[in-house]
Order: sequence, then C-alpha cells, then structure tokens
Amino acid sequence: MGRSSKEQSFRVRINSLTESHDDRSENMSEEKDEVLKAAEAIGVGKIRRHIFLCADQTEPKCSRKEDSLVSWNYLKRRLKELGVSENGVARTKANCLRICRDGPTAVVRGR
Ligand code: FES
Repeated sequence: MGRSSKEQSFRVRINSLTESHDDRSENMSEEKDEVLKAAEAIGVGKIRRHIFLCADQTEPKCSRKEDSLVSWNYLKRRLKELGVSENGVARTKANCLRICRDGPTAVVRGR
C-alpha cells in the first residue's frame, strides 16, 4: 500500500531535520549560491533606482486594476525604450502602496 502525500511530506521534513549539520550546511550553501546566481542574473547588484508601482492590486482602491496594468505595461515598455531597464533601473509591482490618492501610485527609491 502506498504512502499518502501527507505522510511523504512529513517524512521529507523529518529527514531534513535529522540530516547531519554538514549536510544541512552544504544544502544551505548550495541554496545561497542559487539565490546569488539568480540575483546576479537580473542585475540586483547594479540597481541605482527602483520604481515601485501600485499595480495588479489584490484589492484595488483609488485605481482600477485594469488601469494599473496599463500603467505597468507602459512603465516596462518605456524603461526598455530608454535602455535603462538593463542599466540600473529596476521595477516592481507593489500590489498597492496604500497611499490611495489618484492612483496608481509610484515610488522611486535610489540615487
Ligand atoms: S489602489 Fe494602490 S495606491 Fe490606490
């Protein structure tokens, strides 16, 4: 008789808790390397400015979700046209920034 998925999941968790310290350290080091590679691939270390835009909100308030997505798509296209999206300017959908005055609202961080 096969094991239930809940039982298999529990066994995986128990095995991860009981593996040796060296194994855990090695796994954590591999995970850290993967995270660093992923961050490097998207240029995290080169970010000079970061634009957070209220977009694709879970609960739209001062801006309709559809309108925020139009703004998001414009932002993506414009940053690419200007050649800055691969050159130190990052963008992130912030769900909602909760400022809620004439949204969608954007915040720019950086120098
Ligand atoms: S809906 Fe996000 S700031 Fe208003």
